[in-house]
Amino acid sequence: MSVTILQATEADLAPALGDLTDILHACVHAGASVGFILPFDRDAARAFWEERVFPAVRAGGARLFLAQEGGRIVGTVQLGLALPPNQPHRADVSKMLVHPDARRRGVARALLRALDVQARALGRTLLVLDTRSGDHAQPLYESEGFRVAGEIPGYCRNPFTDTLESTTYMYKPLT
Ligand SMILES: CC(C)(COP(=O)(O)OP(=O)(O)OC[C@H]1O[C@@H](n2cnc3c(N)ncnc32)[C@H](O)[C@@H]1OP(=O)(O)O)[C@@H](O)C(=O)NCCC(=O)NCCS
Repeated sequence: MSVTILQATEADLAPALGDLTDILHACVHAGASVGFILPFDRDAARAFWEERVFPAVRAGGARLFLAQEGGRIVGTVQLGLALPPNQPHRADVSKMLVHPDARRRGVARALLRALDVQARALGRTLLVLDTRSGDHAQPLYESEGFRVAGEIPGYCRNPFTDTLESTTYMYKPLT
């Protein structure tokens, strides 16, 4: 089945809510370090999209990318554009999520490439992100041109246990 990447418009948001809720809920329960810890129920996952992401997309502060496969959204990533006045050239990459049953088929890579194209089209010349050190996402980002800026020990809590884990900041100049 082929994957199609689209940038969500206002009309896409409400229909996407169910699949996005599934993806975030499933990823956190599969161990993803993306800002949440257990217990994490579907209401909390839905609220993240409805209350934090959709308003930012509507306000123009973020672009939301959706990966569709067979009529279902299986992955997503965001391009954050709401940055301070001294960083108009920069954008943040956040919440790269692929449903556990759709992984290792190039969905994340396709999302990242679509995001890269859009960032360049908007005149952004620097992408920044952070990822839990050693996660599967790190080789993905490295293979798409991101460089490691550095690692911060004890940055965030493990979603399952009361232990602190490192995060790695990465950047990609868009030249
Ligand atoms: C990280 C994640 C987004 C990758 O999604 P995906 O669609 O499976 O990734 P792709 O199939 O596009 O793989 C791209 C590259 O990522 C790396 N990668 C992805 N999954 C991997 C795994 N299980 N083991 C090792 N490398 C992996 C590989 O370098 C891969 O390239 P290759 O297939 O040519 O070897 C997905 O595992 C996920 O959603 N994880 C939970 C959420 C998360 O941690 N997001 C990152 C937040 S910064």
